Amino acid sequence: MDKSIILTGVRANADFTLGNYLGAIVPMVNLQKKFSKEHQINIFVPDLHSFTTPVNHKDLYLSIIRSLKYYVAAGISLNDDNVFIYRQSYIASHSELTIILNNFTYFGELSRMTQFKEKRDDDDNVSAGLFDYPVLMAADILLYGAHWVPVGEDQRQHLELARDIAIRVNNKFNSEIFVVPEEWSKQQQFIGRSDGIRIRSLTNPTKKMSKSDTDPNGSILLSDEPEIASKKILSATTDSNGIIEFDMEKNPGVSNLIHILSLLIDEPLEKTIKNWDGKTNYLELKQAVADEVKLLLQNIKKNMSNIDESELMRKLESSEYLMRDVAVQRLYKIQQAVGLRP
Ligand code: TRP
Repeated sequence: MDKSIILTGVRANADFTLGNYLGAIVPMVNLQKKFSKEHQINIFVPDLHSFTTPVNHKDLYLSIIRSLKYYVAAGISLNDDNVFIYRQSYIASHSELTIILNNFTYFGELSRMTQFKEKRDDDDNVSAGLFDYPVLMAADILLYGAHWVPVGEDQRQHLELARDIAIRVNNKFNSEIFVVPEEWSKQQQFIGRSDGIRIRSLTNPTKKMSKSDTDPNGSILLSDEPEIASKKILSATTDSNGIIEFDMEKNPGVSNLIHILSLLIDEPLEKTIKNWDGKTNYLELKQAVADEVKLLLQNIKKNMSNIDESELMRKLESSEYLMRDVAVQRLYKIQQAVGLRP
């Protein structure tokens, strides 16, 4: 098993939006299709990271399983030997390595993390868990010797910190304990990412589609009834200039719909734009999107009900069993280096 490793974390979410689906879930399925022959792919749920945003503890366990089911419903295969799917908290080395790495990470560095600063500004009770989030993330990456960690712009700083920690530890102990993951820009090239799939709210298209939107018509949830979702599309806010012209600044509503349509029918955006440019019938466009959304949700619904949960659990348990071993071996190297093991 000496294929280079692609590692990717999927946030647990009981209720994904269409934006999550098109921006995160589909790319993950494509990643598996494109790379799982030549690479090992680690897909894991950073469940210990869940507490850094408000969480319903009672529902957390099941929402993790449910989010994994959505991945399977979208096409992640459970029968691929090059793909491992596991939960962070089931592999204790993540926590243990974090405690060690904390001592090689500076207060100043963590204080400069943009995500930390933003969250700190919205909340008076900042937990040590939030502050330490990037170190746990570094442990997630470094335990497995992952070269490739495709993350969006919002996680770029955290990836860079993981690289800094790896380089620092390797230098200090004059060894090659950790594989240093590639730089963010190389990651983008490797993955061939057309970054920035940002689906907007249907009713307030200058904002991102989010399940915490106060207006339920602004976002489509994968759990929505297909018929209801279709109605939401039909009543989406569009602009009033009477002609379809793709321009995210000037006509965000119509442009958002065109973007959604191109992703749903898996067509290059330029092509979809060309097909609709200059037309005047907004309803026709909405109907086309509504039909595709309905079809997608019907399929997801069907796939969700066909998932064999015991098969999913077997995949998780077998991956966790194998990855625990990999992680313990790497942990042992650093335990030795720092003098905790002979
Ligand atoms: N922080 C990532 C996010 O919010 C999730 C994550 C945790 C992650 N650990 C990771 C992603 C390790 C990649 C690698 O999306």
